[in-house]
Formats: sequence, C-alpha cells, structure tokens
Amino acid sequence: MKYLTLNDGNKIPTIGFGVFMIPNDGPTYEAVLNALKSGYRHIDTAAAYFNEEDVGKAIRDSGIDREEIFVTSKLWLSDNGYEEAKRGIARSLRKLNLDYIDLYLIHQPYGDVEGAWKAMEEAKAEGKLHSIGVSNMSVALWNKFVPHFNIKPAVNQVEFNPLFQQKEIRALMKETDTKLEAWYPLGHGDASLLSHEIITNLANKYGKNPGQIILKFEVQDGVITLPKSTNKERIKTNLDIFDFTLTNEEMEAIRQMDTGKGSHNPDAPGVEERLRSAFVIED
Ligand code: A2P
Repeated sequence: MKYLTLNDGNKIPTIGFGVFMIPNDGPTYEAVLNALKSGYRHIDTAAAYFNEEDVGKAIRDSGIDREEIFVTSKLWLSDNGYEEAKRGIARSLRKLNLDYIDLYLIHQPYGDVEGAWKAMEEAKAEGKLHSIGVSNMSVALWNKFVPHFNIKPAVNQVEFNPLFQQKEIRALMKETDTKLEAWYPLGHGDASLLSHEIITNLANKYGKNPGQIILKFEVQDGVITLPKSTNKERIKTNLDIFDFTLTNEEMEAIRQMDTGKGSHNPDAPGVEERLRSAFVIED
C-alpha cells in the first residue's frame, strides 16, 4: 500500500474502502472485515451512512493494531454549527466506539460551516480527530468558507474520475496542499469510462482490468481513491495496482479524457435543500 502525507503531517493510505449504502448490523461488519483481510487499511464511512457501529466493531475484532487502520467519518449537514458539531463528533466517536477518528470531514458544506469547523479544530487539538477536512467543495464553496478557517483542510473529498478531473478546484487546493479524495472514482461503473478505448488499450498492455488502470491513474496523479465494489475478487484486485507504472504519455492521454462534468454539482440550485431532507441522524 502506498501512503501520502497530509498537510498536517499525518499519513493516509492512497486507496480506501468505502461503505456508503452498506447496511449496519452485519453487512458492513462483514464487508469491513473482508476488506481488512484483503489488505485495505483505510475505511471511509459517515454519520449519514448509518453504519459507524459496524465499522468500529469490525476494526476492533480484526486483530489488526488500531494505529495501522485509517478511519474516516463525516459530520452530517444537520450538525453544521459549533454546538451541533461538538455533539456530532461525540456521536460518531460513540457509535464507532473508538478513541479517535483519523480523519473527519464536513460532509456537505452548507449552513454554519465555520462554526462546525471551529468545533473540529478544537477536537483535533484534543486528539479526538487526527486530521480534519471537507467534502463536496466546489470552487465557489471553497472561496466562501476556507479563507475563514485557521487550519486548512487536509483533504477535499469530491467526485473524481478520468471523465471529471476537477481541474479548477485542484488548482485552488494546491495552494493549501489539500489532497483530493475521489468518490465515484470508477465513474460509478459508467460504461463510457470503463470501456473507453484509451483505458481498455492500457488494460491489455499491462494485463490489468480497466478499473485497475483508472485507479492507477488516480493514485499516480496524487489522488486518494475510494473505489466501491461488492465483488470479493474485485475488492482484492483493486488494491493490486502497485506493480506497474503508467508512462507520462499515458498519464497525459488519460488527462485529456476530462469532460469537466460529473453527476453532482454542489452549486446547483436546490442541492442544499434536497440534501437536508435526505437523512435524519439519530442519537
Ligand atoms: P462491482 O460491485 O460488481 O465490482 P464507483 O467506485 O465509481 O462508485 O464504481 C463502482 C462500480 O464499479 C460498481 O458497479 C462496481 O461493480 C464497479 N467496479 C468496481 N471495481 C471495478 C473494476 N476493477 N473494474 C470494473 N468495474 C469495477
């Protein structure tokens, strides 16, 4: 596994296992244990995934040292605010049943983001959160909030894949050495990505599958990637990308695949309202 160093000095495994939409009370527990057995050391959950309990239990039962596993969770939108975020952080720690969370993110950057960030900065100082970051920040949302932060975000977790390379926000994030984390790194299974000629030609050349070529491009480009798979074989082989290197020309060819468009536009009208009503977090 390859690691990147975040702007606060902490190290993060470049490939993580995401548990969005996997139910609690069994399925997430099994999936995380299996991922850890397959070699993953980075698990990405969120309060709004409703499976933090299973994630924590699998980590405790795995027999792997806690320090070897990197756990991310996220504050839900209804907890954006200073007091609300303090409660949200305490709730995540309680549900995960862990002493600290490696990385905690503002899941959706609307409402009192500055208040929530202040609570996260304090929790970092207290050692409850080791690194803190944001998610789904467009250029406009970044410019609205990040200049007011004391600690600059360690990561911004956004939609990213060869068809949607987020060039503008990446340029901005360079100024604070904020790393990009990719959700939908395989385009959510989009055939126009997975069967793109550039990708399939490289898959043939290197004896890898198209998903592995895409993940390699991302990791080689300095992105932390969170591929999703329910297939045991692919869960394992998606980690098996460290025995080859794409040439500069190949990296450039994939860079040219960018369409500048993805499935989620954080600036679209009505997004905040739709997200606010999507999930209700309970204690
Ligand atoms: P499956 O669960 O059958 O493996 P994303 O991470 O962008 O949301 O994409 C997830 C989709 O990509 C799922 O449909 C998953 O299907 C598929 N997928 C995961 N790994 C690979 C791979 N190595 N090659 C092709 N498709 C993959």
